Amino acid sequence: MSAPELAGRVALVTGASKGIGAETARAFAAAGAGVVLAARDVHALEGVRDEIEGRGGKALVVPTDVAADDAVAQLLDTTMRTYGRLDFAANAAAAHTGRPRPLAELTTEEFDTALAVGVRGLFLSLTYEIRAMLDSGGGSIVNIASTACLQAVSGLADYVTAKHAMIGMTKTAALDYAAEGIRVNALAPGPILTEQLERAGADAQAGVAAAVPVGRIGRPDEVAAATLWLCGDDSEFVTGSVLTIDGGRLAGTPRFR
Ligand SMILES: NC(=O)c1ccc[n+]([C@@H]2O[C@H](COP(=O)([O-])OP(=O)(O)OC[C@H]3O[C@@H](n4cnc5c(N)ncnc54)[C@H](O)[C@@H]3O)[C@@H](O)[C@H]2O)c1
Repeated sequence: MSAPELAGRVALVTGASKGIGAETARAFAAAGAGVVLAARDVHALEGVRDEIEGRGGKALVVPTDVAADDAVAQLLDTTMRTYGRLDFAANAAAAHTGRPRPLAELTTEEFDTALAVGVRGLFLSLTYEIRAMLDSGGGSIVNIASTACLQAVSGLADYVTAKHAMIGMTKTAALDYAAEGIRVNALAPGPILTEQLERAGADAQAGVAAAVPVGRIGRPDEVAAATLWLCGDDSEFVTGSVLTIDGGRLAGTPRFR
């Protein structure tokens, strides 16, 4: 799939400091879009910006906690003052404990954090992105969910709950703004090689890959490519959908031998 030509367009990415978010920002920039990089870690964001600018792209860093209303309002205000429009948004910010445990062993604080970023953060991101897109004549939004938005994973009640909620919000927003030229879709990636899986080491990675029908872990650039497709004109009739990108993992269970 060749990347769509996005010159003159503007893309905002939350969770852009690393992993899938950073790769998505690089892909938007490589396709010619001006990008806005949002996350909390300003140094990491500046690293992504320098990389993009080093390749001739255009990027703006706006340190943002997506769970804070004022911060997200400021993010979109800065975007519109700098670029004058917003065409695309990829919402990749997420939080989880990183320490899987049965539901009753999670703390209330851990649960609240996952929902503050994944649900309240998505609500705020969508709210201000949609307002900016209404002022720009339309747009396309991709929410980076997870296969955990469709199927539970034991020990991850906070993350699974937040990811399931993302789907309800994606579909409702798609219906609310379909007539106004704003499309809203979700991606449900399976295991993707980012920091957490990199840190887990080769043995753990092999175990994860063995549970994927195609026999490998996915790459951030594969999620970025799907995001760009969902933003481009080739997917004009696609809204309110959840696209799995998981090497076949959710397609079904293997036949008994
Ligand atoms: N890597 C995988 O295997 C995988 C699989 C499925 C879905 N996902 C989803 O893809 C997205 C990116 O995941 P990843 O693996 O690249 O790394 P990650 O989960 O560490 O990335 C999360 C990003 O969100 C940012 N973030 C966290 N709290 C924030 C806040 N309050 N405000 C703003 N930004 C905040 C982080 O700085 C980071 O950039 C996440 O939504 C994750 O759930 C990842």
